Amino acid sequence: MSGAWKLAAGAASGMAALCCAVPAHAGTLVVEGETLRGERAVVVRAEQAARGKVLLVRPGGVASRRVATGQVSEIVVRLAGRGCSRRTPLLLSIDGGTPLPVPVGRRFAERRLKVALAPGPHRLRVALPRRTRCRTKLDRLRLPAAPAPAGAPAPVPAPAPATAPSAARRVPLGTAVQLAHLEQDPALGAALASSFSSFSPENELKMEWTQPRRDVWDFAAADELVAFARTRRLQVRGHTLVFGTQTPLWVARLLFSSEVDQALQTHVRTVMTRYKDSIREWDVVNEAFDARGQYRSNPFYDRLGPSYVEKAFAVARQVDPTAKLFYNELDADVDNAKRSAVVKLARHLKGLGLIDGVGLQLHTAIGHAPSRQALVNTMRIYEQMGLEVQITEMDVDARGDGNPETLAARLEQQAAVFRDAAAACAEVTACTRFTVWGVADKYSWLGADRVPLLLDAGFNAKPALGAVRETLGLAP
Ligand code: XIL
Repeated sequence: MSGAWKLAAGAASGMAALCCAVPAHAGTLVVEGETLRGERAVVVRAEQAARGKVLLVRPGGVASRRVATGQVSEIVVRLAGRGCSRRTPLLLSIDGGTPLPVPVGRRFAERRLKVALAPGPHRLRVALPRRTRCRTKLDRLRLPAAPAPAGAPAPVPAPAPATAPSAARRVPLGTAVQLAHLEQDPALGAALASSFSSFSPENELKMEWTQPRRDVWDFAAADELVAFARTRRLQVRGHTLVFGTQTPLWVARLLFSSEVDQALQTHVRTVMTRYKDSIREWDVVNEAFDARGQYRSNPFYDRLGPSYVEKAFAVARQVDPTAKLFYNELDADVDNAKRSAVVKLARHLKGLGLIDGVGLQLHTAIGHAPSRQALVNTMRIYEQMGLEVQITEMDVDARGDGNPETLAARLEQQAAVFRDAAAACAEVTACTRFTVWGVADKYSWLGADRVPLLLDAGFNAKPALGAVRETLGLAP
């Protein structure tokens, strides 16, 4: 591979933005295959690989990772593949620049690529074209930093952005919706698609909807939402597989714990398998803890104890190894007993390789909202564990005194709360999506009088919409 690679600072929207802190790094940086993960890319054991574990990239697959390097003029890629030809190489791009083809042979070999990387943070992305039949095993990338000139100061890592993330990392903005509302109001679908790039079904994937009676399945509503997403080119967040609160009554009536165990496994397996091609990110378990950090009573916990959480994640991982698996929680966004419980659980699941991220719901209100710094602190805990983190259900109750004369001021206060949360997400690289719980005030689960969302009853942008979009680096 020869010829200098001109780095274009193009946008890279829609990519799998992945986790991990950006270490300030001056010497050679080695990125192991197992630390690069993304869509249609999975870590597997490979006997011939130097360290035993490699990243398997499938056709259409993408994986990425942020790194910080010194000045680099060459990247060494160690990889092997099956079914690959010279015309279908692995593509490596940096910071959204033009992809650089890396030839793939049958045996593990090192390929050297000429590049020109300035010191500082960068995003590496590897991808395989959809058309190919080739599968690539990537062992490692080496980025040897050029020795610093004598007396030169050590490279200074780039400071965290004050507001918007870099152009190469726009954080996708998501929302939530109910099928019934979409059906009754054609303007809702249009508003959703113009301001958001993903949505979570508010209820339609929950167990009380998808399996209302034992072994009786109803996917009609969820299927329609997935079809809507496809026509509008929106992503769907899978919310949620196991959630005590909206579990159908029949689960609590099962007599034996072995039956509950079976029901849990069958449910996760059946729902995830059905949506394998369309839902790539799941809240596997929702709201397992109470405010004291104790497990909440629900039909699964009552029979299986805390292990129900791990079981749900284990089945989910087995069913769809490349889906991103999240634990999602309410009121655990700041330093409190519930957050400690979530952190402990996340660490345990991460140790087992069963979790990819933690969702912070962030249902809040003006006058009570967590500060940007408090959110950053929480997000960094998960980032340091190598997990992603997302805001998954934000709304900001701005009913206040309800006086129409104070509405404008309350909406400005609300915009500031949304801006702070978006700024926290923009600042922390591990934060990979920002989702608000509903499109417009009139459809909020809290009631329209709380005016908690980004669009008003007439689908007009409220101050908060501009604040969030600008802070996340999205077009107005
Ligand atoms: C809410 C839905 O928005 C409502 O329509 C439903 O009546 C109750 O559930 N935390 C969650 C979501 O994880 O599933 C909840 O959604 C809101 C709180």
